Amino acid sequence: MKQFDRKSGTAYLYELVAEMGQYDDRINLGIGDPDFDTPQHIVDATRDALGKDGAEYSPVEGLIDLRIAVSERVKRVNDIDVDPHTEVLITNGGQEAVFLMLQAFLEPGDEIIMPAPNYHSYYDGIEFAGAKKVEVITHAEENFRVFPERIAERITDRTRAIAFVSPNNPTGAVISPEDTLEICRMAQEHDLILLADDIYDMYTYYGAKHTSPASLPGMKERTVTLNAVSKSYAMCGWRCGWIVGPASMIEVLKRRKAAMSGPCSVASQRGALAALTGSQDCIADMREAYERRGRVVTDALDEIGVPYGTPYGGQYVFFDITPTGYSSAEVAKRILSDAHVLVYPGFAFDDDRSMRITFLQSEEVLREAMERVKKAMEGLL
Ligand SMILES: Cc1ncc(COP(=O)(O)O)c(C=O)c1O
Repeated sequence: MKQFDRKSGTAYLYELVAEMGQYDDRINLGIGDPDFDTPQHIVDATRDALGKDGAEYSPVEGLIDLRIAVSERVKRVNDIDVDPHTEVLITNGGQEAVFLMLQAFLEPGDEIIMPAPNYHSYYDGIEFAGAKKVEVITHAEENFRVFPERIAERITDRTRAIAFVSPNNPTGAVISPEDTLEICRMAQEHDLILLADDIYDMYTYYGAKHTSPASLPGMKERTVTLNAVSKSYAMCGWRCGWIVGPASMIEVLKRRKAAMSGPCSVASQRGALAALTGSQDCIADMREAYERRGRVVTDALDEIGVPYGTPYGGQYVFFDITPTGYSSAEVAKRILSDAHVLVYPGFAFDDDRSMRITFLQSEEVLREAMERVKKAMEGLL
């Protein structure tokens, strides 16, 4: 009989979350869900929509008001020019956007170059598309920098696309403007598509600068860029995101979205519209808090004495556990059972050398959690 599925890294993470439930004093530094509340004006707009047009279908590509707001946002923040009528697709969060892009632009046998470790959904999506991931491994001691020349070495005549996730989950690396330029130059030289994931674009620290590949000359026609309100506005549960790109590529994505999930919920879209068009103060507040929180984690890792990549962006610190001699699943189990703290094992991100810690809790909670992690790690080093 056909075997239907194998267990993915994502499924293992859900198992750990379930196991954590038995501890009353648990601290979750696994899941990427901010502890901030969604700003009230966004909640209000969503609630109001439920009493108005919230029960209706929107067009598959999304409400035109929201598509206009997205086009203005990507111009303002990312310097990407798009026509809201043909070059924006509203999605069910960033997650659906990742899956759609991989399904739409990869054929069985195609190769996609992927700096690794990377967000685990890419691995599943590539597998479901029947494509092959070609990893360019990045390292903690190099702050997980993505070297363009290492990408160049992996390009073959089967290469179809490059995944460009910056700031990165789980490494916190931000691809510099110079490296972005060079990667884009290679994409043009070899006629490759760029799948750009801007989901953490509001969250860069220590002066790091994010550049959207689609903003560079000659890149718009070969780049699709995803984003979502989940991380920027503490709206993970709203499930609303977008993809922008050339009309021909958006059309291909839209067909698949129509078949897979239809349009995004109208109430969520109204909330996203309020987020994009209302006060942006919450983003600055969260960014400052994350930079301080990231430092609480890295200070503790310095005390523990394990290498890590400085989080120049995103919401995570990826630290190296090779000095323990244990696998990342074993270390995750030990930290969970000894410290009652959930930290994700790197193997779920295709990297068994490391663990991922989120800094989405208050500094106080992070200090307590890292004190416990330190004790648990002492038993492993
Ligand atoms: C790099 C990256 N892309 C996409 C997503 C999916 O985002 P969403 O929560 O909006 O589905 C995530 C979520 O953690 C992510 O880290």
